[in-house]
Amino acid sequence: MTKIHQQVLIVDFGSQVTQLIARRLREMGVYCEVHPYNKVDAAFAEQFAAKAIILSGGPNSVHWDDSPRADDCLFNLGVPVLGICYGEQTMCAQLGGSVSASAEREFGRAEIEIIAASPLFEGLQKIETVWMSHGDKVDALPDGFVAIASSANAPFAAIADETRQFYGVQFHPEVAHTPCGAKILSNFVKNIAGLSGDWTMAAFRGEMIAKIRAQVGEGRVICGLSGGVDSSVVAVLLHEAIGDQLTCVYVDTGLMRSGETEQVVGLFRDHYNIPLIAVDAGDLFLGKLSGVSDPEKKRKIIGSLFIDVFELEAKKLGGADFLAQGTLYPDVIESVSFDGGPSVTIKSHHNVGGLPERMNMKLVEPLRELFKDEVRELGRELGLPESFVGRHPFPGPGLAIRIPGEITAEAVALLQKADAIYLDEIRKAGLYDDIWQAFSVLLPVRTVGVMGDERTYDQVLALRAVTSTDGMTADYFPFPHDFLGRTATRIINEVRGINRVVYDITSKPPGTIEWE
Ligand code: XMP
Repeated sequence: MTKIHQQVLIVDFGSQVTQLIARRLREMGVYCEVHPYNKVDAAFAEQFAAKAIILSGGPNSVHWDDSPRADDCLFNLGVPVLGICYGEQTMCAQLGGSVSASAEREFGRAEIEIIAASPLFEGLQKIETVWMSHGDKVDALPDGFVAIASSANAPFAAIADETRQFYGVQFHPEVAHTPCGAKILSNFVKNIAGLSGDWTMAAFRGEMIAKIRAQVGEGRVICGLSGGVDSSVVAVLLHEAIGDQLTCVYVDTGLMRSGETEQVVGLFRDHYNIPLIAVDAGDLFLGKLSGVSDPEKKRKIIGSLFIDVFELEAKKLGGADFLAQGTLYPDVIESVSFDGGPSVTIKSHHNVGGLPERMNMKLVEPLRELFKDEVRELGRELGLPESFVGRHPFPGPGLAIRIPGEITAEAVALLQKADAIYLDEIRKAGLYDDIWQAFSVLLPVRTVGVMGDERTYDQVLALRAVTSTDGMTADYFPFPHDFLGRTATRIINEVRGINRVVYDITSKPPGTIEWE
């Protein structure tokens, strides 16, 4: 897709936090894209036409055989370059400086002292706290460079060649642990590279509608609507762009939360007048999942049933030329893994990806360039109610991955009831918007309890709530004890079949957010 925004190219060397560089820039209204270092060559750079380049950190050492390098063309484009950590080291090595393995490795918080004035550090204090994570360090600068900051273990904690507008920092300005980091990045892209910050949601909406119209023409589009933020935004955006050429398909898998189907159908069909087919496929999904306990098998079965249902509905409509999907930018970024190979699959995320090939459909993915928080902003821009825009994410496989072991209709009903109480208590406590995602998990474990004078032997419910920015890492939410006590009491009193409630205090990593 051609870009009409000024844009920054982020060259990825495999750091765990490369995406955060992109997020920080987007928050400043600056459009940027992350691309793996080995895909960025002269032809790519010419077509991308970056106004500035950022070289990310990475796990390698410039001393290792075959460690990654930035294409030399990047230093000849006449645009500002900022190297971060490994990005700084490879820039130095490539431009004639030298880098050595440091005896004193620096990980975590460190203090830098700014030792020379530079536009990169405009508005900063003389001493600033930063987040370091490096073994190697620069020990001789390439021609034209001077040190602009030092730390206890790195005399060249930040360097600059003000003439060529090349900068390097040994620390990570993109992480929250570097409080002045956003200012440094803003100084680089706005003051040094002169970007105006022309990336706004209102502009994006108009441009995307024009692009969708150009792509789709007179074609028919179907869109899987789950009621989650992403698919909801896709549906409303497409409807605005192409009206009744769009048909949405909502599949009630029988694994939805309590009241979910009514809310989705109510909003989209009744409020927005979007053509919507609601398929009641509960028996089909539960039938095929019967007796299946393995999490990956569940995911695969659900993924392929979604495709079957969609195919059937698309055929009933007389075919469709396009499938619309809420693919987001983090799904598109092809991050470089430590050894340059594909990253490990932890879970097979469900989508209807097999469908376009089977039905010869093309994809419409209007959110491919956006992060989740930008999708929410776009939703607000499109007038979606806050109750949809601010919704916690809900996975495609639904409650199936919140019932470890075999799934039965009874287990689903039990979980729906308990989960509704949990979310109700969270809303009543005014905590919903402080939490990134909250849900309950019905464990295949029975424990002994006593209610009144009766012995009970019922199931355990685990409550989960996390804070996160993108679901890639997460911390458990620190509920007050009285909240947990109140919620547990309500669930045990109101849901027959559950006699014990526990709270999951695992962060991600090492856990994942969902239990399966
Ligand atoms: P995990 O469990 O991998 O989850 O830490 C990260 C985020 O992704 C959601 N999730 C999914 N979303 N289809 C989806 O649309 C899936 O198959 C799927 N699996 C996990 C999960 O709810 C969390 O927000």
